[in-house]
Amino acid sequence: MLYSEKVMDHFSNPRNVGEIENADGIGEVGNAKCGDIMKMYLKIDNGVITDVKFKTFGCGAAIATSSIATEMVKGKTIKDALKLTNKAVVEALDGLPPVKLHCSVLAEQAMKSALSDYYRRQGIDPVPIVGEIGECEACH
Ligand code: FES
Repeated sequence: MLYSEKVMDHFSNPRNVGEIENADGIGEVGNAKCGDIMKMYLKIDNGVITDVKFKTFGCGAAIATSSIATEMVKGKTIKDALKLTNKAVVEALDGLPPVKLHCSVLAEQAMKSALSDYYRRQGIDPVPIVGEIGECEACH
């Protein structure tokens, strides 16, 4: 089987899908090559992520990684959420096929972009750096 059971589970039954009204931070990242877009909404209270929702227009791996990434940061402090890496997301899903590894980068970047947006809105300086979005050519 190409995909682990966990990937299939999160793809067929994604958690925390949707939008948050009056979100404290919104991040959107896209990949110019494959056109996949991920949007992440955060509710933050006292430095803790109390709610998180996402919308992904993209491949199954992108949906599964965003789903599990939301579960991994819910209830966590901003500091811990900033440590979320695409590697940790892939490990939590029991792996992804090599050509789909880059899709997990979207989840990490969307989360960081939403946290940066939160910092900006709070006027907190410096805003954590959000790196470049990984290219998608491997799967097309
Ligand atoms: Fe573009 Fe998966 S994120 S194909």
